[in-house]
Formats: sequence, structure tokens, C-alpha cells
Amino acid sequence: MRKRTLLTPLVLAALTTAGLTIAPPAASAAGPDISVTNTKAHLDQLQSIANANGGNRSTGKPGYKASVDWVKAKLDAAGYTTTVQPFSTSSGTSYNLVADLPGGDSSSVVMFGAHLDSVSVGPGINDNGSGSAGVLETALAYAASGQTPRNHVRFGFWGAEELGLLGSTYYVGQLTSGQRSAIKSYQNFDMIASPNIGYFVYDDNAAGTDVRDDFTAYYDRKGIPWEYVDVQGRSDHAAFRSNGIATGGIFSGAESTKTSAQAGKWGGTAGRPFDACYHRSCDTITNLDLTALDVNVDAIGAMVWTYAVKDYGTTPPPTAGNLLANPGLESGAVSWTGTSGPITSSTSRPAHSGAWKMWLGGNGSATTESEQQTVTIPAAAATARLSFWGRFDTSETDSTVYDTLKVQVVSSGVTTTLAAYSNVGADATWLQRSFDLSSYRGKSVSVRFVVTEDSSLQTSFVVDDTALTTT
Ligand code: PHE
Ligand code: ZN
Ligand code: ZN
Ligand code: CA
Repeated sequence: MRKRTLLTPLVLAALTTAGLTIAPPAASAAGPDISVTNTKAHLDQLQSIANANGGNRSTGKPGYKASVDWVKAKLDAAGYTTTVQPFSTSSGTSYNLVADLPGGDSSSVVMFGAHLDSVSVGPGINDNGSGSAGVLETALAYAASGQTPRNHVRFGFWGAEELGLLGSTYYVGQLTSGQRSAIKSYQNFDMIASPNIGYFVYDDNAAGTDVRDDFTAYYDRKGIPWEYVDVQGRSDHAAFRSNGIATGGIFSGAESTKTSAQAGKWGGTAGRPFDACYHRSCDTITNLDLTALDVNVDAIGAMVWTYAVKDYGTTPPPTAGNLLANPGLESGAVSWTGTSGPITSSTSRPAHSGAWKMWLGGNGSATTESEQQTVTIPAAAATARLSFWGRFDTSETDSTVYDTLKVQVVSSGVTTTLAAYSNVGADATWLQRSFDLSSYRGKSVSVRFVVTEDSSLQTSFVVDDTALTTT
């Protein structure tokens, strides 16, 4: 779309060439990139725990408790408040591990979970090391990201799923009715890297379709075909679901057979199970599709980042202490300097909140647009952090970088690019990005958003709700 025409033909000619030779972006706009390398390392660790404990991580056996202890230590070190919740089973004591991120409104809780136990005959690496490792890595990444959750974020690692969903059922059963109604969403990850991969989304709309639709939208953004699966009672979302909590999840297939139509869209082998080692001793560290693991851990990331700030009508996080003036652009161009035009209340693109935002780019012609604001970060601050909400959409269709947004800090005449986003991977999901500016304490800094577009096919970089906060 063509938004405005601003530049003279001379400037236009100069920028057309420049726009085509921009370096690739430092960060993608497609959502948090949860490390598959780290996730695989967690799976290696779960395999080692099984190896050291008779080859399994099953209920009542030492490999299960060792798994709990190891995951707990990782979460504790990342700043989570963890609770180990014992309960008894016919195979001995089992444990749920619940991890709460301090903060967020306790009357709107968003939960993500996976069962941590294996069956007794093997190490349970795809079922369900994969879901456990993916949820663990996402929890660690979320805590490290410096996001400000609106909701209270909680992760659950369930015991004794393989004995009949015992841990998750126990957890939901011991909640007070107030605690239960505070849980607005529970998302389940049980088998996410099956070697003969399928991409299934729980078709579970008892309490709304939001979770399901957000998972399918994620796969659509990645260009990955998906199918609904009716999992009803087969995993740990069941107890939440039957208590009226909105649930959902993804699943990569277990014992059932891949059809030729499914092999056509996902590859792999028709006529064979999605996981031929399901509930067998061969469900080991080699029983994984690591490409699928990469896709699916990013799906967990997209959901955690989105649901942490979803509006359930509870208290939004405070904005006091923001060094930036007019941070949400609701006063128009006040306090910001740069190109005239991008700070707008045009309804052709949404604001993150209110009506006004910075809509940089979107011209479909060679342009450079920037907005900046200068503040001094107090020397006495312990930490300083810049954050903003961004929503990017593009009419570009190939994987070459043509249009970019750079987020920069200019201090003492030195320009530092904190991140670059481009048409490649641009998607229209609002995401909060945040950057540590602690090294600028005691300095005057200009926070700068600058967009360059090439001569055709628009990319719109919409920026809103900026913040430079100190502690
Ligand atoms: N809950 C099953 C297990 O752990 C796996 C599964 C998950 C099957 C989701 C179907 C749907 O064995
Ligand atoms: Zn399972
Ligand atoms: Zn199982
Ligand atoms: Ca706004």
C-alpha cells in the first residue's frame, strides 16, 4: 500500500540502491526464537538421567525424581519460585513441579505444562522429554528476556501422566475454587518432536477457541500445514478442561499411522507410526525430529510471550518510572523528533494501545523515516531497559532484505544498533522487544527508530508503547 509520498526524485534515486544492499537483520520479527540447541541439551540431560537410573524416568523409580530435581534447579537459578508437590500412586510417590514467575496479576494466571515422567520400559525422550525440555527452555528464555508480564506466568511439570494423568489431576483437584478460576489458560505439550512428524493442534474448544486458533495461526505464519486432533482425555490438559479452563496444545503424533496424504504434506513415511518407538525402549535421544523440535519450541515461545500479556481484564503492569515522554504516542509527535508523518492515528494500522503510534515505512517507495527522543539515564540506577511493542507487515514476498527497522541508541556521538528487523519474517503479531541499556547509566542517550524502504512493495513497522525504565 502507498501511504505518503515525501521524497524528491534525487533522494529517491540515491536510496533505491542503498535499500537493496542492507545487511541481514540481527533479529527476526517473527517472535521469540527459543533455542533448539539448548532444548536438545536438556534432552541429552534427560537421557543421561535415564542412563544413570536403570534406563527410565518412570514413576516411583529414581530416574523420575532425578528429572524433577534437575529441572527444579534450572528454574530456581532463573528466578522462578518452585514448588515440588508429592502425591501417592500405586507405583510409589510421584511429584509435580510447579514454577511461578514472580509478578503479574495473580487473578489472571496463564499456565503451560508437560509431563515429565516416562513409561517404565525406556527413557521417554520424545514422550515426553520433548515437551518437558521445550517448556523448560521457554521458561528459562522468558525469565531472561526481561518482559513485563501482565498476567501471572506459571509452568507445570507433571508426574505420573503415564499412569493415567495422575499428577495434573491431583494438581487441579487440590486448588481452591478461587485458584482454579484464576487460571485463564492451560497449554499442554506432550510429544512435540516425533520422528515421523505430524503437526497436530488440539481441537479443544470447550472454553473458547483462542488457544487453538493462536497455534494454527503460528503454523500458518511458518507455512506449515497442520491438522486438528481430538485428544480429549489423552493428556494433562484434561483435568483443566473438565474444570472449565480454556486449554489447548500441540502434538506430533504417537502410535497411529501416517496416511499417504499426511506424508504428502509433512514428508516422512506413510503407513508407519508417527513415533514407532512410542512407549518402547527405543524412545531415546535419537528418536527425535530436531527440525520439528525447533518449530515447536518456537510455538511454545510465541504462546508464552502472547498469553503473558493477554488482556483478561485484570491489572496492566505499571508504566510509572518511564524516562521516555509521550511513550505511547497518544500526544502525537510531542517529545519525539524526526520525520513528520509517521506518528499517526490513522486506522489503516492498529495502535498497540490507544489510537496513536509510530507507523514507520509503509510507503512502497524508497524512503528513510526516523523518530527519536533524548533522555538521561540516572547514574544511580541499578539497571536500565528499553522496550517497545512492534507489529510488522509486508507486501514483500521473497527472502531478501529490502526494508528494515533499526532500533538504535546514540550516545556521545556513537550510534549503536540494538536490533534490526526487516520484511523477512515480518508478521502482524504485536510483540514486545526489550534491550538492556544498563551500560548507558549516567549518560544522555537518544533512542532512535529508523526505517529504510526500497522502491517497491511496502513494509510497515508499527511501534507503540515504548519504555525506558530503570530499577
Ligand atoms: N498422553 C499420551 C502419552 O503420554 C500421548 C498423547 C498425547 C497421545 C496427546 C495422544 C494425544 O502416552
Ligand atoms: Zn506423553
Ligand atoms: Zn506416554
Ligand atoms: Ca499508542
